[in-house]
Amino acid sequence: MSEMEKSDLIQQQQGHRLSEDSESDDEVVESVARQPAANVADDRGMKRPNDDSDDDDDAGQTPAKEPRDNATVVASHYNKLEERGLYERSKSRIFYMRNFNNWIKSILINRYLDRIKDKAALGTPLRVMDMCCGKGGDLLKWIKGNITHLICTDIAEVSVEQCEARYNNINQKNDQGGKPFTAEFFAADATLQRLREKYRDPSIDLHLVSCQFAFHYCFESLKQAEFMLKNAAECLKEGGYFIGTIPDANEIMKRQRAAGGDSFGNDVYKISFLCDTEKPPLFGAKYNFQLDGVVDCPEFLVHFPTLVKLALKFGLRLVEKKRFDEFYEESVSSGRGLLEKMQALETFPGFSRDDRERQQNREEYRHAQQYLDRKDGRHTKVGTLSKSEWEASTLYMFFAFQKMKKSWDKEGKPVYS
Ligand SMILES: C[S@@+](CC[C@H](N)C(=O)[O-])C[C@H]1O[C@@H](n2cnc3c(N)ncnc32)[C@H](O)[C@@H]1O
Repeated sequence: MSEMEKSDLIQQQQGHRLSEDSESDDEVVESVARQPAANVADDRGMKRPNDDSDDDDDAGQTPAKEPRDNATVVASHYNKLEERGLYERSKSRIFYMRNFNNWIKSILINRYLDRIKDKAALGTPLRVMDMCCGKGGDLLKWIKGNITHLICTDIAEVSVEQCEARYNNINQKNDQGGKPFTAEFFAADATLQRLREKYRDPSIDLHLVSCQFAFHYCFESLKQAEFMLKNAAECLKEGGYFIGTIPDANEIMKRQRAAGGDSFGNDVYKISFLCDTEKPPLFGAKYNFQLDGVVDCPEFLVHFPTLVKLALKFGLRLVEKKRFDEFYEESVSSGRGLLEKMQALETFPGFSRDDRERQQNREEYRHAQQYLDRKDGRHTKVGTLSKSEWEASTLYMFFAFQKMKKSWDKEGKPVYS
């Protein structure tokens, strides 16, 4: 990174006053599917750009001490993850939470594809990049979204191969109710390698870049965060969107504070901090995330105000962000059909043997029982998630950035408006 770029970032950071602090405190959510959500959402504890501490000028420089190591751990972890069949998945402790998260992704992807389609002439080709595509968990969403071309990339080679095999399978059958699309696949570290150079057509312009449950890996260092943002932004058309889902650092810090130790969690997830929790650094704020025997990986807090500032440098303007609980609340009435189809909530009391077994843990479903009690027999069933699954899912938030109009200043530098 050049000195100019460093000072650029530091200036941006110093000028920033963490307007995010306005997020609502002590919010109590109560609903059918919702748990009494934990309370305060603010930036407490994240090291501020203008904190007076000794290593302030590291804001951007905090190079991770072993950058390759974390990436290698993550790639090999995901490479080794076995694909489970529906039967096995349905027995998982987090079956409904995974469906719920999938539902959130579907609503998010549809919302932004619709915005793009609304502005485009009928029949315009729709080109998308699924950055950190994993094993292709979103392929059906792209089919249903009637896109024309998809670029799939991920650091984990085995996952990319499985994603491609899945695509071939779906495309051959062509029974998913959408039009088949063309696609390309390659493995790359999106935080260190320029993806554009690997596209079949490096001059392609994209309408949408989607990065689901993965962008936070780049907050290991400023360099990696900038690289990933550049990868997301550089081929986006003006007006195109960069969307993603990440753990909400405010929520994580709030729960860490409440737990009063470096580790916290519940029956399905566990977070163990591997950095100073009093003043986590802006980059490299590392923790280990475990999820029901499926995930066990180092991750990094994303200081959202810093992300917003950095994104501007690449012509990306924040247009929307919401925690999953807020998004659920906003989308549940319009997305109810899909919610049911995707089995994104568990019926309480359960019908199936698996559900009934799960629900023997009364404490995990007390909120659902209380809801039915309040209804005084007028409702006999309710859709919900177990307490632990809800707590794990509401660690997350989504974001959407829009690519701004680009022009050039007298010195030949890009200016976005
Ligand atoms: C939780 S999975 C999400 C997969 C997929 N986006 C989904 O929603 O199903 C996170 C993915 O990010 C990928 N990943 C992590 N770090 C990466 C990096 N530096 N470059 C590219 N992919 C990365 C992992 O290999 C993994 O497939």
